[in-house]
Amino acid sequence: MRVFKQKEALISQLSAEKNNHKTIGLVPTMGALHKGHLSLVSRALEENDLVVVSIFVNPTQFNNPEDLAKYPKTLDKDVGLLEELNDQIIIFAPSAEEMYQDDITSEKFDFDGLEFQMEGKFRPGHFDGVGTIVKKLFNTVTPDRAYFGEKDYQQLQIIKKLTEKEQLDVQIIECPITRESSGLAMSSRNERLPKDLRNKAAFIYKTISKAKEKFSTQSIQQTLDWINDQFVNHEDFELEYVEIADQKTLKSVKVKKNGEHYRLFVAVYANDIRLIDTIALN
Ligand code: PAJ
Repeated sequence: MRVFKQKEALISQLSAEKNNHKTIGLVPTMGALHKGHLSLVSRALEENDLVVVSIFVNPTQFNNPEDLAKYPKTLDKDVGLLEELNDQIIIFAPSAEEMYQDDITSEKFDFDGLEFQMEGKFRPGHFDGVGTIVKKLFNTVTPDRAYFGEKDYQQLQIIKKLTEKEQLDVQIIECPITRESSGLAMSSRNERLPKDLRNKAAFIYKTISKAKEKFSTQSIQQTLDWINDQFVNHEDFELEYVEIADQKTLKSVKVKKNGEHYRLFVAVYANDIRLIDTIALN
């Protein structure tokens, strides 16, 4: 298993591989790996000669310092999980200084408005932070393909916009959401849920799945009202937002139009733990 902490060492290793015409897949992560992350890595292993998994808890994308402080750091366990999957994976686990030197700030991006929807409204500056680190990772690794999960659907659209606007020569591969057997979308944050609440959190996916059924016969407003009612009536979960949005622009929609594709998005608090989920509606 090769674990690199320095950019220069990684770059020189990868340039040797590129000279041998090896294709490179990159899976950017913040560690605390679970089966959702590993599904991206497995896909990358199938499609590339070489896979780099980056593990870096990126400070500039946290708008809440407490959330950053509480973010789990489990590098040894993560390395073990990746090694079990395939011992040829290259891990890049830099320090904040290595990625940012002494200026831990974000570049400012224009993502054509994608950044002002949903997560952007509730996590100011978050997508500038994501754009900053992903651009740095792309420039360091120069992958042929990079893998992102639909779990963070808005992030995925923003990364596509980033590559288009910055003319980065990398193919963005979208990967489906991996769920726990209860239906709860896998997330590093699930580990922080007490057991009973983790079981109850299946409610989130059950609700959005039922909403999808309702959406086929009901209006957007009726569907949203129904979801709101479900959460108002549940003592354990507080809905931060629910939106039905155009799948491409991520702008919320009020009226259905033929031929358009819509997606439902929710952000939910369980105690102080923030969970997000999404489902394609049509
Ligand atoms: P992180 O939350 O660690 O997620 C890394 C990647 O795994 C993201 O593309 C995310 O969408 C995907 N992922 C997480 N849970 C998943 C699930 N249940 N099913 C499928 N894919 C899942 O997202 C980030 O890190 C960061 O913002 C990052 C892109 C690394 C930039 O710092």
